[in-house]
Amino acid sequence: MVGRICGTGAYAPPVFASNEDLENVVDTSDTWIRERTGIARRHIAVEDTAVTMAVKAARQALANGKIDPEAVELILVSTISPERVLPCTACEVQKQLGAVQAVCFDLNAACAGFLYAYNTAQAYIRSGMYKTVLVIGTEQLSKLVDWTDRNTCILFGDGAGAVVLTGEENGRYNMTAHSDGRKGEALTCRTDGKIKMDGREVFRFAVKSVPECIRELLEREQLLAEDIDYFVLHQANRRIVEAVAKRLNVPPERFPMNLEEYGNTSSASIPILLHEMKQKGILKPGMKLVFAGFGAGLSWGASLTEW
Ligand code: ACO
Repeated sequence: MVGRICGTGAYAPPVFASNEDLENVVDTSDTWIRERTGIARRHIAVEDTAVTMAVKAARQALANGKIDPEAVELILVSTISPERVLPCTACEVQKQLGAVQAVCFDLNAACAGFLYAYNTAQAYIRSGMYKTVLVIGTEQLSKLVDWTDRNTCILFGDGAGAVVLTGEENGRYNMTAHSDGRKGEALTCRTDGKIKMDGREVFRFAVKSVPECIRELLEREQLLAEDIDYFVLHQANRRIVEAVAKRLNVPPERFPMNLEEYGNTSSASIPILLHEMKQKGILKPGMKLVFAGFGAGLSWGASLTEW
């Protein structure tokens, strides 16, 4: 059994902060932010929370996949910015969707979180335990950002993305995942604090680890980078995505990006991007996609999916 993505959804709050808006908050400039990151604006949740954004993305994914909420057997939510510690975000989402049959839990692997949740969903499906799984990445990072720290506040944004997986006999899926707690201090956030980051360290880690784990995945599947139609990477920084493309010797067009609009939405970035790709009609049955995530932990990984 393999989980096939039958529905996608995404939501970003209507309010956004442009780079020019941030020029009034910290000592920065639109030019610096665009050149160093590729980001032009980020959405900010004013009325929304991680729960409300997750529900909106999930409703769209279910409608899009023509799946009744009552058919969902498992809801996995990846978030580092829950509205409350208890109950978990997944249970709140379940309540609002009316997905009464679902087992629900949250998972935290920072910006690699969606990828880890997706892999967890695939493992449950492969085991035969569940057949219909809703996977959501939702983040309200604006509340974890130190708005006086120009090194970090320009990077992050709020939003949610969701996919619905259904188990099918045919299809292709494989994954690699890694963690290295010894390097965890590069990117931290205490429960009562704000995000602190050694940007250069995280940058170096990402441009080295992501191509390595993608190569590992391709070797496992006996595929070449040119066999992959699209690489859907966590959207942290345009320069990271371009460096990964270069190291894999793949044209950058096969690395879609949307961070200009959203900034880094942590575990929401991959499903938001995937949803946009689907809406644009660029995903065709049988296409091979590689998802890759990386972030605090440190945690990183990649997975192969057949559309
Ligand atoms: N505006 C203007 N100048 C700035 C800003 C800003 N917003 N931020 C930093 N600078 C300055 C620095 O102070 C430094 O000045 P100095 O040379 O006088 O000391 C200069 O710009 C260069 O700083 P660097 O840190 O070397 O800039 P760099 O080119 O590395 O870009 C960045 C910084 C964008 C943070 C980059 O390192 C990066 O993207 N790193 C990865 C971050 C990331 O992806 N984090 C998320 C991971 S996922 C997760 O789990 C959350």
